[in-house]
Parts: sequence; C-alpha cells; structure tokens
Amino acid sequence: MATTIYYFSATGNSLAVAKKLQQQLDDCRLIPIASLANARSIKPGGETVGFVFPLYYMGIPLLVKDFLEKISLDGVRYIFAVVTKGNPLAGGAIPQLAKIMKRWKYRLDAGFYITLPDNYIPMLNLPREAEQRKQFQACEVKIPQIVKYIKTNARLKERAFGSFLRPLIYNRWAANVRNSDRRFTVEDSCISCGVCEQVCPVNNIKMSQTEPEWLHHCEECLACLHHCPKQAIQCGKSTKKKPRYRHPEVLVAEIVKQKTAASPHPLSDQS
Ligand SMILES: Cc1cc2nc3c(=O)[nH]c(=O)nc-3n(C[C@H](O)[C@H](O)[C@H](O)COP(=O)(O)O)c2cc1C
Ligand code: SF4
Ligand code: SF4
Repeated sequence: MATTIYYFSATGNSLAVAKKLQQQLDDCRLIPIASLANARSIKPGGETVGFVFPLYYMGIPLLVKDFLEKISLDGVRYIFAVVTKGNPLAGGAIPQLAKIMKRWKYRLDAGFYITLPDNYIPMLNLPREAEQRKQFQACEVKIPQIVKYIKTNARLKERAFGSFLRPLIYNRWAANVRNSDRRFTVEDSCISCGVCEQVCPVNNIKMSQTEPEWLHHCEECLACLHHCPKQAIQCGKSTKKKPRYRHPEVLVAEIVKQKTAASPHPLSDQS
C-alpha cells in the first residue's frame, strides 16, 4: 500500500520522525511541504497520506495550513498525522487538522503526538542532554506503534490536555507571526556565509552585502536562529547564551533541501 508523507521541519525533529516512518513503512515517499509553496493544487499518488510537522502555539504552522488548503485527497483511503512538540502535555494541532479535513469532506483517521526537544528558545531552555536522550529513546519506541496503526489502517486520534485553549493562543500568534522577525538581530560574529538564507523555508531572508535582512513574511520556525554556524542570530535578549539545536540525525543540508523536492511532485500544478 503506497504511502506519501508530506513533512515540514525547521530543526529536524519532524524530519527525523518522517524518515523513521519511511524506513518502517513499505513503499513510502517523503515530500517536503516547503517545496510546494508555488503549487496551486496538489494531488498525492498513494492510498495512504500522512502529514508530519511541529506544533506551533498549540496549532499547525502557517505554511502547513496554507498547503492543506491546496491538497486534494479524493481517493485516499487513510489519512494520518504525526505532530512533534516540546511539551509533553501540549496539543491542539490534531483537532485543528481534523476540522480542516472535515471542511473538505475528508476524515483524519489517526493523529499522534511525539515529544522531542523543544526548540522555542526565545521563551524556554532546551532540555538537558539526558532528558533529550530519553525523548529520543521514547520516540524510537513510539514510531513502530504508530507504524502498526498505519499498516492496519486503524483509527485513533490522540488527545492532549488544554486543546480547548488553542483558538485563543494560536489565533493571536497567527495574526502577528509574519512580523515576528523584527525581533531578530545579527551580531558582529556573522561571517556572511548565507546559511540562514538557505535554511529559511519561505525565503524570508535576503543576504545584503554582509549580513541577513528579514523580509517580514516570517513563519517563526527558528531555522535561521538554530542553524547559524556562529550563533550570530539572536531573538530578543534571551537567546544570547542559550545553546542551539538540531536533531542529531538530521543535516543542515537536509533542512536546506526542503525548498527543492528531490524530484518534482508528479501531480502538483505549479504553473
Ligand atoms: C513558533 C514555535 C511555537 C511552538 N509552540 C509549541 C507549543 O505550543 N507546544 C509545544 O509543545 N511545543 C512548541 N514548540 C516546539 C516545537 O513544536 C518542537 O520543538 C518541534 O519538535 C520542532 O520541530 P522541528 O524540529 O521539526 O522544527 C514551538 C516551536 C516554535 C518554533
Ligand atoms: S548563518 Fe549566521 S554567520 Fe551565516 S550569514 Fe547568517 S547570520 Fe551570518
Ligand atoms: S526568517 Fe527564520 S524564523 Fe522566519 S521563517 Fe525564515 S528561517 Fe524561519
């Protein structure tokens, strides 16, 4: 049974999960959502379709939400989602996704959360290394369980505490997020390497003569902040001394590659 997984990932957690699912499912291909930004309509090939992405303010990242408006799932037999997140108690994206699916007359059959290191360092600290290791181990245990659900087309939507708070928290964030890049500053340690520009999934960074300039259509994914090799990008005052994060099984090059899918999506209309 062919599976197509659409993913988005800024610091690698969701990409690592997507890759692990691909390894354990038969005939599964991964398609980066960021590569479909210019597609007007998208139609996946397989019978099973999955979405893997991070939780943002108890909801769905905006570029994933925009993508969901364009995808046609007619003829798809099983639809699932895996949402990575930092707080074990947090949720909200699965009921939000189920609602979007319902609006288009589709059914979200299964939705799972996986807790991995929280990359939202403007507000929080990264978990300590020992805690990160525990999260990676728990993820290894959970992936085969999710695969079992997918392979048997079983239905289950995981619930999380506080999902009812989502509209309040998410809507306010979504209304202001495009300008959230106004909080970014660049330090003198910048070596003009352009990595920040390359990793930005929505081309919201332009290299001026020597340093990055933000263009105010930000997703607040924090890829630029985390992957800068000199830690020269700060977000407000709180990130200065904090370590940066990338999932240990994901390369910067894989984050960069998200904007250009390995092969053109066969059934997207990008004209
Ligand atoms: C803008 C933003 C908002 C976030 N909001 C939440 C949240 O509401 N709850 C949560 O548990 N984690 C939150 N996180 C943490 C990420 O969901 C988590 O670290 C995720 O695994 C990152 O995935 P990625 O590495 O694939 O980008 C947020 C991260 C960002 C950048
Ligand atoms: S990634 Fe960092 S060092 Fe490289 S251009 Fe951007 S800010 Fe400068
Ligand atoms: S500017 Fe930085 S935070 Fe904003 S979308 Fe691009 S990479 Fe993400």
